[in-house]
Amino acid sequence: MKRSQIIGWGSYLPKQILTNDELAQRIDTSDEWITSRTGIRQRHIAAEGENTSDLAVSAAQAAIATAGIEATDIDLIIVATATPDNTFPSTATAVQAKLGITQGAAFDVSAVCSGFVFGLTVADNFIRCGQADTVLVIGAEVFSRILDWQDRGTCVLFGDGAGALLLRATESDEANNGRYVLSTHIHSDGRYRDLLYVDGGPSSTQTVGYLRMSGRDVFKHAVTLLAGAVNEALEANDMKSEDIDWLVPHQANKRIMDATQRKLKLPVEKMVVTIDRHANTSAASIPLALTEAANDGRIQPGHIVLVEGMGGGFTWGSAMIRW
Ligand code: ACO
Repeated sequence: MKRSQIIGWGSYLPKQILTNDELAQRIDTSDEWITSRTGIRQRHIAAEGENTSDLAVSAAQAAIATAGIEATDIDLIIVATATPDNTFPSTATAVQAKLGITQGAAFDVSAVCSGFVFGLTVADNFIRCGQADTVLVIGAEVFSRILDWQDRGTCVLFGDGAGALLLRATESDEANNGRYVLSTHIHSDGRYRDLLYVDGGPSSTQTVGYLRMSGRDVFKHAVTLLAGAVNEALEANDMKSEDIDWLVPHQANKRIMDATQRKLKLPVEKMVVTIDRHANTSAASIPLALTEAANDGRIQPGHIVLVEGMGGGFTWGSAMIRW
């Protein structure tokens, strides 16, 4: 049976950094408030004219270089984003064109902060059923463009960035020591759409709109849903939390991440944390964190990596990977 091996990873962060202290000069907030409630110390902000597809292409090029393949080997591009360059065509087709690829298919998936887990799930299923061979999955966002910078309850939480994984079809035999995506699980429950949403859109208001969130409610649901997501992944693979080498959560809020880590009884050093420097980059946060931990040598070939995320919709899910 075909399975998806991770053969490359890469990320990109815009150059400009916005610190909590700088934010506190613009709105009524403080470094102490933001750090103690979220773990965020700074975020990266895309430059004027730097769009989601630009961030995505930089991350993709880094992933292609790690994998040592040609861009033209890629036969499927999936971009997870809630901040596309345009309403249509998809940001994935912009990435495809900028990478000089003319074959295969390219499309976006929309699941906000769970977008990368959803994209990885789609990619893995395309590979399992033999419809794609080399798949580029990207999470890329410029949330700075959909924030109400007067709303201190939301604008302090997010940042811009992109991350990418390259997956290649492999046989599920012993030859590669079982190094592939072991499981994926995704869920949605649209009853909670109003707790985290953007108050605009092409069919409703013909505006782009701004992010709106009921922070306390999101927090409460996130802790419960993510606990369920990690248990589902463990059960599906007949594993215990001791089997996990790395927990790579969506970086929404350090307190939400800590709650999952404690529920798993996982040593704190086994959780990859980037939220202090990146803030919440939505669909980009998981591949950004994976790339950081793979590049600095924490994640090694053969390691068991559990990724999980939750976002607007609500949407949530997990993936278990033998790296
Ligand atoms: N600086 C200073 N004070 C602030 C700020 C700020 N940036 N933002 C809100 N406050 C104030 C509020 O006005 C309120 O003041 P009041 O009591 O005088 O009315 C007080 O702080 C408490 O506000 P709450 O919103 O209740 O604060 P809470 O402790 O819940 O923390 C937070 C807010 C950090 C957003 C929290 O609810 C949270 O992290 N929720 C999870 C949401 C999340 O992570 N979303 C990310 C997107 S979804 C995802 O990725 C999973």
